[in-house]
Amino acid sequence: MTDMNRQWCVADAPGGSGLGLTHEQFEYREAAIPEPRDGEVLIRNVYFSCDPMNHAWVKGMEERFRAIPIGQPMCGGVAGRVVASRHPDFKPGDAVTGFLEFADYVTTGAFDRTGTPLQRIPTDFSLASGLATLGMTGLCAYFGLADIGKPTLGDTVVVSGAAGAIGTIAGQLAKLSGARVIGIAGGGSKCAMLTGELGFDAAIDYKAEDVAARMAELAPRGIDVFFDNVGGGILDAALANMAHGGRIVICGGIAGYNAQAPGLHNHMALAMRGCTMAGFFFFDHVGRFAEGVARLADWMRGGHIKEVLDIADGFDKVPEAALGQFMGANRGKQLVKIVEDPGT
Ligand SMILES: NC(=O)c1ccc[n+]([C@@H]2O[C@H](COP(=O)([O-])OP(=O)(O)OC[C@H]3O[C@@H](n4cnc5c(N)ncnc54)[C@H](OP(=O)(O)O)[C@@H]3O)[C@@H](O)[C@H]2O)c1
Repeated sequence: MTDMNRQWCVADAPGGSGLGLTHEQFEYREAAIPEPRDGEVLIRNVYFSCDPMNHAWVKGMEERFRAIPIGQPMCGGVAGRVVASRHPDFKPGDAVTGFLEFADYVTTGAFDRTGTPLQRIPTDFSLASGLATLGMTGLCAYFGLADIGKPTLGDTVVVSGAAGAIGTIAGQLAKLSGARVIGIAGGGSKCAMLTGELGFDAAIDYKAEDVAARMAELAPRGIDVFFDNVGGGILDAALANMAHGGRIVICGGIAGYNAQAPGLHNHMALAMRGCTMAGFFFFDHVGRFAEGVARLADWMRGGHIKEVLDIADGFDKVPEAALGQFMGANRGKQLVKIVEDPGT
């Protein structure tokens, strides 16, 4: 253990448009390693999770998060090991995950910065899997499909942002339910990964193809479930192609975070075809994390889900990895590894 605590803090610099961050908003600082107080643990972070929510933490998210003040450490999903404990339920070596500071070391009680209980990572999984597929990524795919999409045998499911973190898992879970799955992603090589490595039935390259026309071709009887991570024009194309009784899952809308996404023109399909469109917010499902983690862990153990991890190596890689998602730089779950797992 060194005596220095590296941190990524919010700099006093102009941000990008919308939720967009800029490189200038990341400020590297060093501080002393904090001491756990009574009821707290000291965690050695090993992985940071980069996801579009990093931007929301810095800028604030209406009704959900206050913006992190300038000069304070950025927060996000982290996974690490307890290295000192003054909490009766945790001991050194425990693998944990939560939403905490992007720093080498953090102290916390049994709840993270969102008020969510600190989660234990099942002992037969790596810290990376605990943060990714057994964390917010896998759980969003699970809740969105189990509660809203409800795919069944023979359904046609379309997933946008399909080569990203949540999309890769959502597509594979939909396949497990017996559906035919079409992924939408940017670029030929991401589409090839979906159909080649992950078992999707077809893929649409939204950067090179007419998405609405390809949906009509690939789903001539309509889309039963649309799992949306993107919004804007892709959501509008899906609306135009929904089947009677189809379900649209609003997981995210990344097309509109940095820029004004095109508006919807085809929403009357909801009425004409008796479709439903509903969203969910991960933190509203805390009470069901254990259920979701148990299901996902079983699928992983059985080899039914392939985890796609995109791991940047080194503390200095955080700004690049966090910003890269908006350019489609990641495949699967974007993590940053800051140190080797010290183990139990
Ligand atoms: N509802 C919730 O509680 C909840 C929780 C976590 C995340 N989310 C949302 O879920 C979505 C997916 O999150 P994630 O962590 O899995 O991220 P991700 O998909 O791993 O990364 C974002 C991906 O989005 C694609 N993208 C970026 N800009 C785009 C654009 N303008 N049009 C189309 N695609 C674009 C890029 O892939 P391409 O190369 O294919 O463009 C990029 O790799 C995000 O919208 C996120 O905000 C929701």
